[in-house]
Amino acid sequence: MSEKTRVLTGITTTGTPHLGNYVGAIKPAIASSHDEATDSYYFLADYHALVKCEEPERVQRSTLEIAATWLALGLDTERAVFYRQSDVPEIPELTWLLSCVTAKGLMNRAHAYKAAVDDNQLGGEDADQGITMGLFSYPVLMAADILMFNAHKVPVGKDQVQHLEMARDIAQRFNHRYGEHFVLPEAVVDEHVATLPGTDGRKMSKSYDNTIALWLPEKQLRKAIMKIKTNSLEPGEPKDPDTAAVYTVYAAFATPAQREAMRQAFAEGIAWGEVKQQLFALVNAELAAPRERYEALMAEPERVERELKRGAEKARAMSRPLIDRLRHAVGIRHLA
Ligand code: TRP
Repeated sequence: MSEKTRVLTGITTTGTPHLGNYVGAIKPAIASSHDEATDSYYFLADYHALVKCEEPERVQRSTLEIAATWLALGLDTERAVFYRQSDVPEIPELTWLLSCVTAKGLMNRAHAYKAAVDDNQLGGEDADQGITMGLFSYPVLMAADILMFNAHKVPVGKDQVQHLEMARDIAQRFNHRYGEHFVLPEAVVDEHVATLPGTDGRKMSKSYDNTIALWLPEKQLRKAIMKIKTNSLEPGEPKDPDTAAVYTVYAAFATPAQREAMRQAFAEGIAWGEVKQQLFALVNAELAAPRERYEALMAEPERVERELKRGAEKARAMSRPLIDRLRHAVGIRHLA
């Protein structure tokens, strides 16, 4: 195993990538994959998708869209290991080994599970109503994703920090019982990365229905940007960039010089319509070339499939020997 820092993160395959995902997660991950000092592992968490989504077509579609997105945006798959969770059978196998050292009480404390129980109790339902074992043991599967590759750093959103703590706890228990097999992973929550506002000014999120899809065709992208909420200040009236969603989105795509010029224009009373024109031009310039690559990949899913299979081979070169050692460690051994 190389001595580089291993960075790993997973993307649940339930949705269509939007501008917020791009700015907040995909773009920084692809940039970090070019860093010589790290080995990157990025994967499509399709087993996790089954916990949230019971529509097979949607899981398949989302897997293709997300994979094509990362490839179109220039993820270097020679350097990074890019794979689909379900192509690595050692992961569910490790999930079981970990389940057997995981305290049920630890899982009882998981925020997502507790929220589901609270909802049931508020609604006067049985506490377990509609709660699957998939939801309950979600953090163990996530721990297996991470520990399988002995990742040091795991870039995630704030909502996932508890899952990382659980992964560390599970790794420690396993190490304590069976020997030092696992690195204790650390969550990396980047406070500097912009959280992009959506069309209504709140954080761009699927649950608010305020997203702008990443790969909208040019005309629709323009339309969506024109719909971003502004206030009623007229052209010529000075405007405050720091309370304007359009400026925050602009800043996420702009160079420092462009940001400075735009702030100046705000002070001089630029019209909202003009800001939006410039915002569209900026975003579209960045996305136009990758969009063509994305569309080409979507038209040829075979190519995406091949990339993922290659990634899985690389991943399994790590996971197979580790699972062999772990099986041996717990007493699942050849009898002779
Ligand atoms: N649970 C993560 C999310 O919803 C996705 C995920 C699955 C993940 N396995 C992971 C993230 C392993 C980091 C590491 O965002």
